[in-house]
Amino acid sequence: MRVAQKTIAVTGAGNGIGRALALHLLEKGARVACIDKDEDGLHKTEMEAGSLAVRLSCHALDISHNENLSGLVNQILHKHGCIDGLINNAGVIQPFTTVKNIDMRDIERVMNINFYGTVFMLKAFLPHLLPRKEAHIVNVCSMGAFVPVPGQVFYGASKAAVKLLTEGLHSELKNTGIGVSVAFPGAVATEITLHSGVTPPELSQSNIKKYAMISPEKVAEAIVNGMEKDAYHIFIGSDSKWMNTLYRINPEFAANMIQRKMRDLLKY
Ligand SMILES: NC(=O)c1ccc[n+]([C@@H]2O[C@H](COP(=O)([O-])OP(=O)(O)OC[C@H]3O[C@@H](n4cnc5c(N)ncnc54)[C@H](O)[C@@H]3O)[C@@H](O)[C@H]2O)c1
Repeated sequence: MRVAQKTIAVTGAGNGIGRALALHLLEKGARVACIDKDEDGLHKTEMEAGSLAVRLSCHALDISHNENLSGLVNQILHKHGCIDGLINNAGVIQPFTTVKNIDMRDIERVMNINFYGTVFMLKAFLPHLLPRKEAHIVNVCSMGAFVPVPGQVFYGASKAAVKLLTEGLHSELKNTGIGVSVAFPGAVATEITLHSGVTPPELSQSNIKKYAMISPEKVAEAIVNGMEKDAYHIFIGSDSKWMNTLYRINPEFAANMIQRKMRDLLKY
């Protein structure tokens, strides 16, 4: 679906990849509904949009609470008249710790935002997307959805759940006007650790060099490009592309490679 003249809702648009998505979509001529629980972040996105902000609306809300979402849809319809696209991008990581040591509340939080937040958004928006002649949904996963990252096991599980949810939705919507894509960014230079309320792991200088990161703007460009081309999978960054190939050839070898990079960060 070409994004120009379309109305696209983006979650997590108050920071990082979500803000870059909102700005890129505006530049391409779309109308954008920005959704985030971070009100200051949304304000910053609006400021950065400058004169393009006339095509933007901001909606401060927590997507992990189902009861907020019918009001959200009505607000967007009131402002823009219709909804043509949805990018489920909001997400958090878990504290860097093991399955044994993580607190149950941290597991629930990551599942409630990453998985159930996506489910609630889909349930609220699908009835409005289905009657459109053309519409598109993108769910933002992670390289961690297909290759295991020790210390981020529940984050990975939440994203793997979103991956299969998205692929199932793609199959279900095959004969409708709705295209469905799933995006797998590798490491991206955002402040997700801070926004997730997580203490960053101590990385040695040599490790920092190994974790070369892609910019959120490049990720946004790749996601919108994938949306316009109706891509099934969108792998973003050389780490994600390369790991996808390696994982298909030899999953255990790929998992061991990641394990070696992460093992020093975790205390068992
Ligand atoms: N940064 C990376 O390295 C990376 C890699 C792969 C995938 N991703 C995924 O990309 C997406 C965006 O991440 P980012 O790096 O831009 O992070 P970010 O922290 O910069 O942005 C995430 C945004 O989501 C919002 N958010 C979190 N919980 C929310 C909730 N319950 N309701 C509404 N908004 C909420 C935050 O306020 C924040 O503005 C996430 O789903 C993340 O898992 C990130």
